[in-house]
Amino acid sequence: MKQRKGRNMPVVTMNDVSYTVPSGTRLGTLLAREGKIGMPCGGQGRCGKCKVTATGALNRLTESEKRFLSPDEIARGIRLACMTVIEGDCTVYVAGEKAPQIRIRGEMPKIRLQPAFITYGCAVDIGTTTLAACLYDTEGNMLAQASSRNPQAGWGADVISRMDAALGGAKRELAEAVCRAVDALLLQLSETAGIHSREIDGLVITGNTVMLHLLTETSTEPLSHAPFTLLRKFGETVEAGALGLTAVEAVTGVYLPPCISAFVGADLVTALLASGIYEAPGIQMLTDIGTNGEMALLRDGQLYVCSTAAGPAFEGAGISQGMQGKRGAIDRVFLQDNELDVHVIGESAAEGICGSGIVDAIACLLESGQIDETGYMDKESILIAPSVAVTQKDVRMVQLAKSAVHAGILTLLHMAGTGFGEVSNLLIAGGFGSYLNVENAGRIGLIPCEMVPKVRAIGNAALSGAAMLLLNLEYRAACKKYADDAKEIELSGNSFFADEYMARMMF
Ligand code: FES
Repeated sequence: MKQRKGRNMPVVTMNDVSYTVPSGTRLGTLLAREGKIGMPCGGQGRCGKCKVTATGALNRLTESEKRFLSPDEIARGIRLACMTVIEGDCTVYVAGEKAPQIRIRGEMPKIRLQPAFITYGCAVDIGTTTLAACLYDTEGNMLAQASSRNPQAGWGADVISRMDAALGGAKRELAEAVCRAVDALLLQLSETAGIHSREIDGLVITGNTVMLHLLTETSTEPLSHAPFTLLRKFGETVEAGALGLTAVEAVTGVYLPPCISAFVGADLVTALLASGIYEAPGIQMLTDIGTNGEMALLRDGQLYVCSTAAGPAFEGAGISQGMQGKRGAIDRVFLQDNELDVHVIGESAAEGICGSGIVDAIACLLESGQIDETGYMDKESILIAPSVAVTQKDVRMVQLAKSAVHAGILTLLHMAGTGFGEVSNLLIAGGFGSYLNVENAGRIGLIPCEMVPKVRAIGNAALSGAAMLLLNLEYRAACKKYADDAKEIELSGNSFFADEYMARMMF
């Protein structure tokens, strides 16, 4: 880790490494940008998930910290990093990270090899929350895989706040932060595989449209307002040195797959490649449910795509006790003899609830009659484990998110002139889909009940598709064609979508 230099500025000693930062810097911002913590509520002091030990010249304890910290924690110097302001020299200790339950790689068909590298190649997926990467040799063997947080979270949890930050002058810093994280992954992969990172001579980096713009320091200004145009569609090779990557030789080629639109990015294009839907018979659908629900429908060779603002509820954010799928998170909820029972990742005490858990919890509460079909609860909150509750506000958040996804699926079907019965498969890409109880997703109306038997989770297909582009150069032309031929269905202003969105709010 780097030591930052500066004069007359506070020195923060964190886990024995020193940083010099301007007085008034938020501790949470520093830690998130260094990839040390996540900030599930975007640093608003609302989730209590950014606890660290911090002592020295800091601001007084804030009201939100008093709500989340016990007297014992306060006595031990525990603070909420996002509420803590650095006023002078201080010492910070961040406990060992609990790794998120990230499904690094998804399904990938058997492929013919024509690698885009000579010695070793690396595929990377830059997600809004998480980065994932795999290292390959020329035989197509995966030698190592690794993941980390996206340190751009220090500028905001979602793409909108990061675009605002970039437009406000932090464009270079955002690019540097994600490059440092990619470099760290390349070093980690190399160490695991017992090679030198400079032997990696080919890279493919996929991600949503905003992530690729921020990586390449391309202006996000046209992405931030109607008509949401792209300055760059990608589908091009750049040099690692031009991006600012230092773990590999500067001349190493980095292929950035094509994006379709401002909201449908290269990550959906590479997921389409890995999903194999172009080879499958019948009408096929693919969706990746994250903060944005990106969706695609393929009918008679025509691809229809759309993106719906699902919000962060299914990523564990925006929910009062929401958290990522990692140790301590409730990831499954069951109803047995009308009693709630939960499964906690790592078989430890429950600290919060992740996306798959909240879907289960609401399905169970509907089943037991504690939530009615309008989403109304007769109590403000219901305990589902000794210290974890689902609140009325959480239920409302999930209603907004699930109706956005459900209405998006219905609108794609409608615009393509088809219906549930004709669809052969609904593939769900991404980590959330891998852990989702599909029956419960149907029960709460996240996906249409009629499609439940057609659902198949395919894991991190975006990364698998990036690996395919790395292992066979010929796929680049296929991806370009997917992106060029795609017909985007604009949901804002679409009256069919608006009507369904309202109608699907009910359970
Ligand atoms: S990130 Fe600090 S309380 Fe949520």
